[in-house]
Amino acid sequence: MPESGKIVAVASSKGGVGKSSYIMAIASALAKSGLNVGILDNDPNQPVIEWLSENPVENITATAKVSDTEVFDTLDNMRENYDIVLADMEGSANLGVAMAIASADLVIVPSQGSSLDHKEAAKTLGLIKNQSKLQRRDIPFRILFTRTNQAITPRTLKRAYQQLRERKLPYMKAEFNNLEAFKVFVEEGRSIYNLTDAEAPNLKGALKVLHALASELIAVLKDPSYGLETEDRSDHANTPADVKE
Ligand SMILES: Nc1ncnc2c1ncn2[C@@H]1O[C@H](COP(=O)(O)OP(=O)(O)OP(=O)(O)O)[C@@H](O)[C@H]1O
Ligand SMILES: [Mg+2]
Repeated sequence: MPESGKIVAVASSKGGVGKSSYIMAIASALAKSGLNVGILDNDPNQPVIEWLSENPVENITATAKVSDTEVFDTLDNMRENYDIVLADMEGSANLGVAMAIASADLVIVPSQGSSLDHKEAAKTLGLIKNQSKLQRRDIPFRILFTRTNQAITPRTLKRAYQQLRERKLPYMKAEFNNLEAFKVFVEEGRSIYNLTDAEAPNLKGALKVLHALASELIAVLKDPSYGLETEDRSDHANTPADVKE
């Protein structure tokens, strides 16, 4: 577990790739493991605030949207009060997103793997590069494939992995698969751990995916070079990087 508050910014200029859903899912898992999680909900639609509005989730506190110029200081202050701070940013490449990247210990760049997603992810990677230059530090980042099919890997996604490997761009080995449970818990306004099997098909499977995502996130926060040496692997399954298939 990280010793002091770490800031994870989730940023992608493309809308609807699952930034907010990922944040709420991963927050549920981190909170369940006993970490005190703060979320800055800077999505204009305030999905996290809405999610927590009726049933608070233990160990998760959300802060409502602040102005772009307040993002850096807000996240930096939140760092003092939480083990992990998650920043849910709007789907654009604006000043607020740049500020979140500047404050981050890790930036997660979600992508659905299409070529359009790829172009949009490249914009966000450009922002990370710029902020790294301005700050004279390498801001760690990982691309995260989202809303992917758990059962099959289409050619487009295989190509996307191939391109990342060729460009030596780091990505999470776990994917945020498209699963009903990841939709239902948000709509129900509860932690994913409070769902029943009747409410979400394949809940067990979704929790397995979530645990793979959470343990990889914690590992990268502890050691930003985690998993990088395995990048020439030709597979990418939802398994820890050290498990041979
Ligand atoms: N892993 C997933 N499994 C199933 N549905 C998902 C998943 N991720 C996202 N969705 C669905 O996709 C839609 C968009 O997701 P979400 O709002 O999280 O994206 P976003 O990147 O935050 O969008 P925006 O850029 O508008 O803020 C929602 O209807 C959500 O329920
Ligand atoms: Mg969102």
